[in-house]
Amino acid sequence: MNIRWMVLSLCIGLYGVVFSSGLPNIVIFLADDLGIGDVGCFGNTTLPTPNIDRIASEGARLTHHLTSSSVCTPSRTSLLTGRYPIRSGLVTSHLLPVILFVASAAGLPNNETTFAELAKTQGYSTAVIGKWHLGMSCSTYQDFCHHPLNHGFDYFYGLPLTNLKDFGNSGESVVVSQMPATNMTLVMSFVLGLLSSAVLHRKGFISTKFTVLFLGLSTCLPLALYTAYKNITLLNSVMLKDFNVIEQPIRLDSLTRRFTQEGLEFIERQKRNQQPFLLFLSWTHVHTYLMTGSGFSGRSQHGRYGDAVMELDWGVGQILTALDKHGFTNNTMVYFTSDNGGHIEETEEDGSRVGGYNGIYKGGKTHGAVDGGIRVPTVVRYPGRIKPGRVVDEPTSLMDFLPTVANLMKAPVPSDRVLDGKDMMPLLTGEERLSRHEFLFHYCGKTIHAIRYRPRQGSDVFKLVLWTPGYIPGQMRCEFVCFCGHATRLSTPQLYNMVSDPGELTPLNVTQHAEYQDIVRLMLKALEEHQASVTPVPDQYAIMNLMWRPWLQPCCNFPYCSCQDPKYASLEP
Ligand SMILES: *[C@@H]1O[C@H](CO)[C@@H](O)[C@H](O)[C@H]1NC(C)=O
Ligand SMILES: *[C@@H]1O[C@H](CO)[C@@H](O)[C@H](O)[C@H]1NC(C)=O
Ligand SMILES: *[C@@H]1O[C@H](CO)[C@@H](O)[C@H](O)[C@H]1NC(C)=O
Repeated sequence: MNIRWMVLSLCIGLYGVVFSSGLPNIVIFLADDLGIGDVGCFGNTTLPTPNIDRIASEGARLTHHLTSSSVCTPSRTSLLTGRYPIRSGLVTSHLLPVILFVASAAGLPNNETTFAELAKTQGYSTAVIGKWHLGMSCSTYQDFCHHPLNHGFDYFYGLPLTNLKDFGNSGESVVVSQMPATNMTLVMSFVLGLLSSAVLHRKGFISTKFTVLFLGLSTCLPLALYTAYKNITLLNSVMLKDFNVIEQPIRLDSLTRRFTQEGLEFIERQKRNQQPFLLFLSWTHVHTYLMTGSGFSGRSQHGRYGDAVMELDWGVGQILTALDKHGFTNNTMVYFTSDNGGHIEETEEDGSRVGGYNGIYKGGKTHGAVDGGIRVPTVVRYPGRIKPGRVVDEPTSLMDFLPTVANLMKAPVPSDRVLDGKDMMPLLTGEERLSRHEFLFHYCGKTIHAIRYRPRQGSDVFKLVLWTPGYIPGQMRCEFVCFCGHATRLSTPQLYNMVSDPGELTPLNVTQHAEYQDIVRLMLKALEEHQASVTPVPDQYAIMNLMWRPWLQPCCNFPYCSCQDPKYASLEP
């Protein structure tokens, strides 16, 4: 390096010190369906996750971090908005709790304010890489009303929807997993429609015109449903780069490496930037269909699931190393969490398990309010502010992320709406020892299945269970996912002490203890107050919004809808 370059770099460096905003960079890692029992620093001794553990040892480990929902679309909504997803219309009580088609109109409403939009008000450079699953367009293909670039992100590389087991070409299907007799049901409804219209016509109950209509419907409906579920991959295995379809169908084996590479390149670009940055890495691991690069297949003791956890951890490590290399580590807040608990009913075709592990907690993904579905492995690092090795056992929430980073970024939070999250920085630094959440409400769809109460004194945390899974997790298994519909309302709510009984095994004897009765009364009153704060909003999950809309369908080269991201075309499996 000659002297001129040295002077120049020194000047640029000085310029950076003097004129940079001093605002911290933010990196968010969001895993998909990762269980709290899958991670080394949360007690797993057989599945190595050294990089996630590194965040914990250099920062804080949150042992009581809760999502607002045990499925992904609503949980992700609340991470982005800091609000219960019911406030955005992204919860439902019918059978489909997530968005199932890229080409549907459901998604995160435009008037919600995301943490990325707050970052933009402070001059941040922002990117989301990976799974979005919060909708794409509303009424025309090009409106992109729900797209990340219309929610505060400058750059998007990833899936507008999600990974699905159908994408693996192993013959597995989410629809058939949930409803093993799908084909039979469709054939039966076709035959029944045929027979009943014939009989009704013969008996003179319906005119010829109606018979034709009836016949048409009973043929078209099952056929349309059959076509939709048989073509889930064609319709949904789509990757976008900003607004453009860049790959279809998705090559799953290289996905994690590509997300990592995109993250590294984004960080690299920030070196030349004087702006702070916010990078949201939303991994598709460890949602099924599980596929890793050949470097990871067969490496873990836990089959394809363990391999995927290890590849995810590797990706996290690559990003951490890049932060070190470019000197960003000390001024970067890193947050790692999962959207919901491990999917304990998930199996391979041969019946072997490929879902996560939720440790001592009861239940898992989609189970409503049991802690296995909502208590997620979470670690946060912010050198200089959070002491290395700190452990926070107080209840916190994914909804807390937005107000926490808003304060770090010095961005005012929206004041025209209810914000349910709380700044958790004082807990992380140790300035405060009590969770700012006195009450948390655990929804399954639109129904509140449990209430959590952190009294302002002592160290207890109580959970009042109003609805419970209508089976014993691990015993009477549901097919694939146990939606809220499998839950039953308890005639007498059960109260648990989540500190002495985190596995929710023995309800407290409320009838014989007046102090517990007071607690229950207090919790039910808080429930009423919370419900009064929820105002009706348009339902994103209305069937009309969820339905496949042909005119919103992405396709990179009609009619083939088949293309590969040229940038990574040479990447080995
Ligand atoms: C570690 O995680 C794997 C994968 O979910 C699980 O099968 C195993 O039981 C866990 N081991 C321990 C010791 O927690
Ligand atoms: C980062 O911060 C730590 C502790 O706050 C300090 O020991 C270290 O020297 C800092 N590193 C750099 C590169 O400034
Ligand atoms: C967004 O718009 C809908 C429909 O007009 C409204 O019900 C809702 O309250 C608005 N949300 C916010 C946060 O302003």
